[in-house]
This record gives sequence, structure tokens and C-alpha cells, in this order.
Amino acid sequence: MYSEKVMDHFMHPRNVGEIEDASGVGTVGNAKCGDIMRMYLDIDENGVIREAKFKTFGCGAAVATSSMATELVKGKTVQEALEITNKAVMEALDGLPPIKVHCSLLAEEAIHAALWDYAEKHHIKIEGLERPVNDISEKAPEEEY
Ligand code: FES
Repeated sequence: MYSEKVMDHFMHPRNVGEIEDASGVGTVGNAKCGDIMRMYLDIDENGVIREAKFKTFGCGAAVATSSMATELVKGKTVQEALEITNKAVMEALDGLPPIKVHCSLLAEEAIHAALWDYAEKHHIKIEGLERPVNDISEKAPEEEY
């Protein structure tokens, strides 16, 4: 049911933890399943993501997608990180079962929330970034859980 990569990132998640004085922190949840993901980004003066860490209280797919999302954003510019969609995260994990697609949305939105926080703290506007939602189930109301 799960790919080897999903299982690997679930069993051995990368970048678990917090970043003290992070440039941006984003927390998103899903009221339907009760899962919560918090993403920390350390961004240098050139807008490049030096470090990414996460804490996820959620299902295995949520853990695996947060782990992969942190791996994907590291070394990227803010603008590049914005382009990392939940589909990209899923592809990097060799797919997710259809019923678990919403878990990857949590990862995408957590990145956006952390970028939003960074932009607010630095009084900048990130082109193309929309205000993230706190509850991802607002974005995927039709999904089953
Ligand atoms: Fe809620 Fe996976 S994020 S079931």
C-alpha cells in the first residue's frame, strides 16, 4: 500500500525537531483527522533556506510528507520553495494512496505558512504566496478520511 520511500521517511523521518529563532514558523492542522504539522525554516539574507525542521502530530503519511518536504525545501530560494506542491512531495515519495493525498496538502500548506510568517516578520511580500489556512480541511472538503 505504501511505497518503500514513504515507509523509509515514516520510520526514519529526516529533520525532526525545532529551529530556535527560526526565520519562519508555520503550523497547520486538519480538523477532520486532527493532525497537526509545524514547519520551521531558517532563511539566510539571500532568501535561501539553510535549514528546515518539522514536528508532526499525525498519521504516518503526514510524517513522511513533512520529512520529504523539509528535504525538498533545503537549499532552495523562497520563491523555489513556494513552487513545491503537494504533488511534488508525493512524487518524491513515489506516490501515496488516494485516501492519503490530503496528508501531503498539510505539508504544502505548512511550507506556505512558514514562508508567510517569514514574510510578515521581514515586512516583505513573496510573489504568489497566498495567506495560508489554519485548517487544511477547508481546502479539501470533499476528501474522505
Ligand atoms: Fe490526517 Fe494524514 S494528515 S490522516
